[in-house]
Amino acid sequence: MSKAPEELRSFRWFGAQTMRGFSHRSRMKQLGFRQEDFTGRPVIALINTWSEINSCHAHLRDRAEAIKKGVWQAGGFPLEIPAFSITETYMKPSPMLYRNLLAMDTEENLRSLPIDGAVLMGGCDKTTPALIMGALSMNLPSIYFPAGPMLRGNWKGQPLGSGTDLFKFWTERCAGTITEEEWNEMEGGIARSPGFCMTMGTAATMTALAEALGLTLPGASSIPAPDSNHTRMAMACGRRIVEMVWEDLKPRTILTMPALENAITVDMAIGGSTNAIIHLVALARRCGLELPLQRFDEISEHVPVLANIRPSGKFLMEDFYYAGGLSGLMGQIRDLLHLDCMTVNGKTLGDNLSGASVENSDVIRPRANPLASSGGTVVLFGNLAPDGAVIKTSAADPRLLDHTGPAIVFRNYADMEARMNREDLDVTEDSVLVLQDAGPLGGPGMPEWGNLPIPKKLLDRGVRDIVRISDARMSGTAYGTCVLHVSPESFIGGPLALVRDGDRIQLNVAAHSLNVLLSDSELAERRSKWVKPQPKYSRGYGALYSEHVTQAHEGCDFDFLGGSGETPEPEIH
Ligand code: FES
Repeated sequence: MSKAPEELRSFRWFGAQTMRGFSHRSRMKQLGFRQEDFTGRPVIALINTWSEINSCHAHLRDRAEAIKKGVWQAGGFPLEIPAFSITETYMKPSPMLYRNLLAMDTEENLRSLPIDGAVLMGGCDKTTPALIMGALSMNLPSIYFPAGPMLRGNWKGQPLGSGTDLFKFWTERCAGTITEEEWNEMEGGIARSPGFCMTMGTAATMTALAEALGLTLPGASSIPAPDSNHTRMAMACGRRIVEMVWEDLKPRTILTMPALENAITVDMAIGGSTNAIIHLVALARRCGLELPLQRFDEISEHVPVLANIRPSGKFLMEDFYYAGGLSGLMGQIRDLLHLDCMTVNGKTLGDNLSGASVENSDVIRPRANPLASSGGTVVLFGNLAPDGAVIKTSAADPRLLDHTGPAIVFRNYADMEARMNREDLDVTEDSVLVLQDAGPLGGPGMPEWGNLPIPKKLLDRGVRDIVRISDARMSGTAYGTCVLHVSPESFIGGPLALVRDGDRIQLNVAAHSLNVLLSDSELAERRSKWVKPQPKYSRGYGALYSEHVTQAHEGCDFDFLGGSGETPEPEIH
C-alpha cells in the first residue's frame, strides 16, 4: 500500500471535521452505510452506461453488482454512477455527435464527486472511446470493463453477424433474391443475447484496442457478454481497481505513445474498424500526444491481418474467444508489439502474454497464413483529401483498389436517397459515387453513411461493389470499396465540395492517393464560386458541438478538451 487512507481524494469529502464533512457523511448514512464503510477506503465509481434502450448494455446492471462485490472484497467502497448512454442503433442524427458529451459527462462526474478510482462500463461503439477520453482527462486510476460481444446470430442454422449480414441481406432483398418472410425471420435471429455487435465492428475493435492499450484486465475484451467468465471478469475488475487506487496507477501512465502504437498494430491485425483511427487520434490528443495519420500507414504496412472475423473474414467474436481471443492474437504478433508497456493489472503487456495460445488457426491465423499480408486500413492523400482519407482494404474488392472513373455526386443523404435507384441515374460499374455533406459538421456528427448503397440498376446486373467516396464514417461491420473520412469535409469547403458529375476520380491504394483529375486553376475557379452553407444549429448542444468539433484527422474532439493541461480539483466549501 503506497498511500495513507488520509491521502485518498475522497477523504477531502468524508474525513474533514467541518460543516460540509458532516453533510457528506450524514448523506452516506442516509443511504444506510456506516462511516467506516466509506471513510478511509477507496471510493470506486462504476461509471455505468446502462440504459433500457441500449440493448448492447442490457446486462450492465447485473455486471455492476458483480463489480461491486469485487470492490467490497478488496476493501473499497463502490458507488454506481449512471452516465449518458450512447446507443448506436437508435441515437440520431448520429451517435458520434454525442461521443464528446459522454466524455465530458465521465470526466466531470469523476471530478465533481468524492471518487478515488473508476470502473468504466461500456462497449457499444462510441462508449469505449468516450469513457476512456473522459478518464484520461481526469486521470484517476481507472479500469475499462468491456460489455462483451453478443452470441453469434442464427438463421436456419446459418451464423449471422451484426451489421455485416444486415448489409449483405438487405442488398439481396433489394435485388429480390430473398423473400420478405426470410427477411423477417432474420430480424428475430441476428441479435440473440445482450452484448455488443459480434462482428469486428467498432465496438469489438475499440474494446480490443482498450485491451491492447493496457486499460483492461488481460483477456477482458473477448469474453462474450452472457458467459460466466464475463461475470468473473467483472468481479476481478472490482478487486483490482481498489489496488490501483492504493498504487496510484493512473491511465495517463499507461496510455503512452508506445501503447498507442500497440493499439494501431492490433487494429491492423484484427482488420479493425476505420472508426478506430478517429478515436485513437482523439485519445492521443487527450494526453497531449500527436498521432498523425501517416503513423497508421507506417505500422499498417508491416502488420498482417490475422483475425478471420467478419466483415474482413468469415467468423464471429464468439469464435474468436474460443480460439484464444485477443491474447491469442497478440501472442502471434509479440515481436511487433512494445512488450514493456504497463497495463492496469500492474504487469507489462509482455508478462500478460506469456502463455497466450491459439486454439483454432483458421479463426486466428498464424503469421505464415494471414488473411492479408499487410494491414487492413490504408490512409490516402491527394487533391481530394489534403488532410487525409481512409479505406479499409481488407473489406474492399481488390479489383477496385486501383480505379479511375466518372463521379456521380450526391449533395447530401436526402439527395442520394431520392436519386440512387432511379432508372435515369447515369451509373455503371466504373462510376465513383460521391456523397457530400456527411462529415463532422455536415452530417452533422459524421454519420456512418460511407458505405453508400449500390444502385438498384447495378444490383440487377449482379454488381455488388463499386468505388464510393465521402466525408462520412462507415460502420465497422460494413464492407465495400468505400473511401471515408475525407478531410477537410465538404461542409467547410473541402475539395470534395467542388466535385461535379462526370469529373474523373482516381483512387490508387498502392500509391496511397486520391485525386480528382482537375487542374489547380479549375479547382480554384470552382472554389471562388462555392457558397458556405448555414450552420446546422443555432442553439443547444448542437451549437456547442458545431463551434468546437475538430475535423476527422484531428479526432473530432472538441478543441477545448485536448491537451494534457490540468483542471484544478474542486474546492470544497
Ligand atoms: Fe451497439 Fe453495434 S449497436 S455495438
